[in-house]
Amino acid sequence: MTELNDQAQQQQTPEKKDLTYWNSQWCNNKIGFHRLAVNPDFEKYVLSKIISVEQQQSILFPLSGKTVDMKAALDSKHQVIGIECAQLGIESFFQENNIKYNIENNECQVYKGIDYPVTIFHDNFLTFNQTLPTIDWIWDRAALVAVNLSDREQYRDNLLRLMTPGHTRLYLVAVCYDDPELTGPPHSVSDEDVISLFGSTCSIELISVNDTTADFIANSHRNVRLMEEHLHLIIRK
Ligand SMILES: C[S@@+](CC[C@H](N)C(=O)[O-])C[C@H]1O[C@@H](n2cnc3c(N)ncnc32)[C@H](O)[C@@H]1O
Repeated sequence: MTELNDQAQQQQTPEKKDLTYWNSQWCNNKIGFHRLAVNPDFEKYVLSKIISVEQQQSILFPLSGKTVDMKAALDSKHQVIGIECAQLGIESFFQENNIKYNIENNECQVYKGIDYPVTIFHDNFLTFNQTLPTIDWIWDRAALVAVNLSDREQYRDNLLRLMTPGHTRLYLVAVCYDDPELTGPPHSVSDEDVISLFGSTCSIELISVNDTTADFIANSHRNVRLMEEHLHLIIRK
């Protein structure tokens, strides 16, 4: 009985993942979170709006991986800033998109595109303390949901630090599921979690809800009864 309880406990309490875990996921090519196509919501809510803006916009990708959404933003001539702990993820982004880069050392390694306005910091987002230019947009896809539950407030605080009140538009893709068989990452982030994290300092608008069950199963080879993505627009007051 005790053993059964222990097993159930193990299934329900996600193990805390550190940067070594993420680096080894990259080294072992376990990157089921990566998508080959631009995220349709990024296209709809960010790209389509910035495409006609003449003034160069800066878009922050926390826990960026090598997402192709960054390349799509660069192709529309806007500025991209990423923060990623896995060197392999960063270098793959530059190599796979044929973007030449330099590396500067400034508290952490800073990868800078030569012909494209892209900067990716090789750092831990939770302790990242560099000053950035004004950020117009933040695209958080598979980022907050990848963070350990115990690190959520620290993650939120660093996002808030990088947001200009009344200006920066944070689009947060929250993965929602209720399935004891599935432990994160991705961790489920309910609408109530979003309100509890951001409600006292920000306005929050639920923009869309998508059923992503089939997409998750196909890409992660893990099972889930029902998974939804809730897209929130969050603006600091
Ligand atoms: C689930 S993936 C999502 C990547 C990307 N946002 C996407 O949509 O493809 C999470 C990424 O965050 C990185 N990561 C995890 N914890 C981090 C941390 N504390 N600081 C910086 N990067 C981190 C991992 O290496 C991984 O590339």
